Amino acid sequence: MRAKLVVGNWKMHGSLAANRELLRALVAGLPLAGSTEMAVCVPFPYLAQAQEMLAATPIRWGAQNLSEHSGGAYTGEVSGAMLCDFACRYAIVGHSERRALYGESDAKVAAKFLAARAAGLTPVLCVGETLEQREAGATLQVVYAQLDAVLDAAGAAGLSGAVLAYEPVWAIGTGRTASPAQAQEVHAAIRARVEARDAVLAASLPILYGGSVKAQNAGELFAQSDIDGGLVGGASLVVDEFLAICQAANC
Ligand code: 13P
Repeated sequence: MRAKLVVGNWKMHGSLAANRELLRALVAGLPLAGSTEMAVCVPFPYLAQAQEMLAATPIRWGAQNLSEHSGGAYTGEVSGAMLCDFACRYAIVGHSERRALYGESDAKVAAKFLAARAAGLTPVLCVGETLEQREAGATLQVVYAQLDAVLDAAGAAGLSGAVLAYEPVWAIGTGRTASPAQAQEVHAAIRARVEARDAVLAASLPILYGGSVKAQNAGELFAQSDIDGGLVGGASLVVDEFLAICQAANC
């Protein structure tokens, strides 16, 4: 039985004042029982704030990106070691917004995954197809290519302790969620793909669903056998929504 994990991806939202309110309310409203782990991936400038406010709580924190390099003349970049200075547990890699808007290729995402591992961070590797790709029947082909780039670079053992997230691009920020059956189908395919390399790893690998997860649809999604929690964008900024999603994962 895999424990559930719910990760909030704040994207480029927040301010010191707004974060203080949000984090305070999350800590105050933490689900009382259950084994679900909660985390928030915040913009880089707010890592110190997250560390300060969450260190003594069960909520973990992380970043939304990192450099594939460990250091050097890379203006504007942030290394894995820097994230560790703020006691981050997680680093999202390969989010579709980074792939689409910042030209991150499968190879670059794999390099970032390796950099996260080398720093001792837990990468949350995102994969997912666009609407065009889904309608062309290419969903699994796209997702496998994204996954294989990392499996080939890191080896199956390199995925041990990592987290995967299936985020269909057409469901992100659109209010259009994949149905539980649609999501489960891809999650099962991802797990089978990993299983072909390492069955033990596949059985323990957390695979989160992301894309318009809300309090209202979380329970049904998390009830699917291969969905181990959520990677939540917009709803992670709304206290009651995020807490209710975490509660749904506890059931
Ligand atoms: P939304 O939950 O806002 O659709 O975003 C999903 C996402 O991109 C999480 O990484």
